[in-house]
Amino acid sequence: MKKGIRDLLVDELHDILSSEEQIVRALPEMVAASESLDLKKAFEFHLKETKEQIQRLEKIFKLLKLEKKEKFCKATKGLIEECKDVLKEFKTKSSLRDTALISKAQRIEHYEISAYGTVRTFAKELGLYEIENLLQATLEEEANADKRLTKIAEGGMWTSGINHQANLLKETDSRDSNQSVTKNKKSKDMILKQKMVPQQHTTKKRKDFSRASIAPKGTIASRKKLAKKSLAGKRNTVVKKAVITKRNAFPKLAQNLHH
Ligand SMILES: [Fe+2]
Repeated sequence: MKKGIRDLLVDELHDILSSEEQIVRALPEMVAASESLDLKKAFEFHLKETKEQIQRLEKIFKLLKLEKKEKFCKATKGLIEECKDVLKEFKTKSSLRDTALISKAQRIEHYEISAYGTVRTFAKELGLYEIENLLQATLEEEANADKRLTKIAEGGMWTSGINHQANLLKETDSRDSNQSVTKNKKSKDMILKQKMVPQQHTTKKRKDFSRASIAPKGTIASRKKLAKKSLAGKRNTVVKKAVITKRNAFPKLAQNLHH
């Protein structure tokens, strides 16, 4: 019998169901393995979402009057095995292990985003709009889960992310090997203090903007001069104009440029 897009849709839906079922089984281990409370919560939240996504798929099977058939997603199995490899490689909890876990979890998210994007488009092409909406809802959840993990890894405006913490700890470890026990303790204390410093003060780019923020103390002419200097070649002309023409633009500018 000749096959069509509907057959591809059905086949992919079975593949995705297998994928979600495997992820539901794997996520509790990811929750338990995470050191960061934020990461733990993110995995827990996604576990709850994934269970709902399975229910959504079951609803789609009902709408299509389909019997579920046995299908196993080999790609998801491989991606989950890579997560488990992280736990074998890093025996104890650390921010570095969290960083590695995020990198593997995001590969799973991207695989799911790709899969749901495809079936959503198939459903749309076939005029199965209710099914399209259900798949779109899951697609958005997967995209949000991915963004959440990126935020935990990179940090926000006032907090450093897990990547940064993992990098600091790596530096401590390498210094530890050449220092006495007393020095190690001091070094670790310093690292802990560094971790408390908002990330925006640790990069060269942020320091440049901090210098611009002292400008309101000067004259309007000096403000214009500083604004031109700090923005030259870095920001678009719309932002430049706003800075130069607005008398009290600096606090706002400094805020805007951090986004
Ligand atoms: Fe999912």
